[in-house]
Amino acid sequence: MRPDDVLSPLLGDTASNKSFIKFGNQPAILENAPKELTEADQIVLKSFPVETIESIKQTITETQDCLMESVSSLQRRMGFQVSRVTSAVSHLAKEVSDNLMAVFSVLATHSHVSDTHLLQKIARHSTNVSTLGIMMSILRGDDDRTISEIGLAGLLHDTSILFQPDWFVLDPVSRTETARKQFRSHSLASASLFEGLPGVSESVIKMIREVHEQFDGSGFPFGKSREELHSGSLILNLADAFISLISPISGPPIVASDAMAVLCHHTTRGAFSRDIFQIFLDSVSIYPVGTVVKLDDKSDAVVVNSNRKKPLQPVVRLLPNGVPEIDLSYSEFRVIELSHVGESTKSRRVSRASLGKALWRSELDIR
Ligand SMILES: [Fe+2]
Ligand SMILES: [Fe+2]
Repeated sequence: MRPDDVLSPLLGDTASNKSFIKFGNQPAILENAPKELTEADQIVLKSFPVETIESIKQTITETQDCLMESVSSLQRRMGFQVSRVTSAVSHLAKEVSDNLMAVFSVLATHSHVSDTHLLQKIARHSTNVSTLGIMMSILRGDDDRTISEIGLAGLLHDTSILFQPDWFVLDPVSRTETARKQFRSHSLASASLFEGLPGVSESVIKMIREVHEQFDGSGFPFGKSREELHSGSLILNLADAFISLISPISGPPIVASDAMAVLCHHTTRGAFSRDIFQIFLDSVSIYPVGTVVKLDDKSDAVVVNSNRKKPLQPVVRLLPNGVPEIDLSYSEFRVIELSHVGESTKSRRVSRASLGKALWRSELDIR
């Protein structure tokens, strides 16, 4: 299935088939969930064991802390501990490999971050891009070395912004042309911080430089053509766009399924690699696990699995109790809209008219 095969049904009506409802197997997890978890946390826990979710969150936080401390050390001219950072990336890669779909669910539907400090938000962005980059690399079937390099490049790609977060402090209307130019070259500035460091390969440096280059040459700073780009850069470019949509450093987040629609739309127009997007879509579906949706009988349901060939018709469990489980690809029910539950109320929807805008680069006012 090509991305444009997905887009039209996404925007229009979805077909439904014969009824297929599976009862039973209610996850017995919620009783054990810690009390401080939000409603959205509880929903995600319907799909994955609580200890898995907590382990993923802890690994992501540890990676973020490692990045913050390492960058701080670099800033104080006390050196950059490459081995410490690569070790954190290895640990993250193992977590992703062990719990692929749960990791994506945490990123996509469970991304509430209590960080209020700008530097922490930037570090969380970098960590999430690294996490998603590792996931896409694993899904593509890359070898361990490539997976680690993509993870490291993702983690370090916005380090220059951590050094100088001024861009995000400035009021958008007061950003001068000089500031814009500087921002457009921030990936080069990030790469230059690590060039020549033992343990940071040329491939990692190239990927950091190319994170914002698009498949069709519309990216920045160089507008490189696809032939010039590292295959890992294609992954990080898509990962950065997705994370920037669902957890922007500034501005309101976009719900994950709408972010998928935005990426799908732009993939059909060439901005992202079709191969990478297809691998991504096949695995996570338009509705990531943990997404709360409304069915056409007005009931709420939580997505617990995707259908590889039918990304608009995932497997869901009816709320509030998680039973029955319904495979929508064999059901007369269909998803009519997203349900806003818990933290997702803070996320905004994307109208059809806005799908064509480069929303993942909204901080550059690119329309
Ligand atoms: Fe960036
Ligand atoms: Fe970024």
